[in-house]
Amino acid sequence: MVLCNDRPKGFEMRNAVIITSSAQAEASVSGRLTTEFEAQLREANPGIRIVRRDVGVDTLPHLTAETVAAIRGTPQTDAELAARALSDALVGELQAADLIVIGSPMYNFGMSSTLKAWFDHVLRAGVTFRYTEAGPEGLLKNKKAVVIESRAGLYSEGAAAAMDSQEPHIRTLLEFMGIVDVTWVRAEKLAFGPDAAEESIAQATAELAGLADETLKLAA
Ligand SMILES: Cc1cc2nc3c(=O)[nH]c(=O)nc-3n(C[C@H](O)[C@H](O)[C@H](O)COP(=O)(O)O)c2cc1C
Repeated sequence: MVLCNDRPKGFEMRNAVIITSSAQAEASVSGRLTTEFEAQLREANPGIRIVRRDVGVDTLPHLTAETVAAIRGTPQTDAELAARALSDALVGELQAADLIVIGSPMYNFGMSSTLKAWFDHVLRAGVTFRYTEAGPEGLLKNKKAVVIESRAGLYSEGAAAAMDSQEPHIRTLLEFMGIVDVTWVRAEKLAFGPDAAEESIAQATAELAGLADETLKLAA
């Protein structure tokens, strides 16, 4: 894990947005770790405002003609305008956040389709990124992200690393919007037996506690 402490002195973290995306609600490892991290963030940063969206349970629509018109075009119909309003709300939460926390289960080697739907709603040309003569530019600057991943296998090293389509994809999407200061916390080997799972979850819990205490605390 790489901790990035490159904030200017006096930086204050006031706003966070938390996105969880497991289909399994209460039984979710990434959801549980995210909830614990939220509590630690609140304790370390009194006054922090946190918006939480569980897109794994309160799912967002997949792309349709209406949502594409809303997100990448000019909305006109009532359905398109409603889709634009939803995208605007999600983008507004992201723009307001100093910290973005994402809980991401691995499903079939990638992120959940529900988290992908969230990304589909917030990657907006001219709003969260733009194309310039020099190429694409992310428009969300000076933000930190913490991505909490849960998966049955081991992908951070070893033979299955090349099969990980979750972390590289999430990294690409965040970086495309300008969010380059990302800390990855992984609960892996969850299907390698109770001892391996317990050890991995304990390790992730310790990493998150350290992040909340040391990296993200409000400047005095
Ligand atoms: C539909 C489905 C597909 C999954 N695919 C994978 C996979 O490709 N690789 C893997 O390591 N684990 C896979 N898993 C296991 C989950 O990543 C694991 O149960 C993890 O804890 C899910 O996160 P959660 O507990 O936050 O819901 C899959 C689980 C489900 C339900």
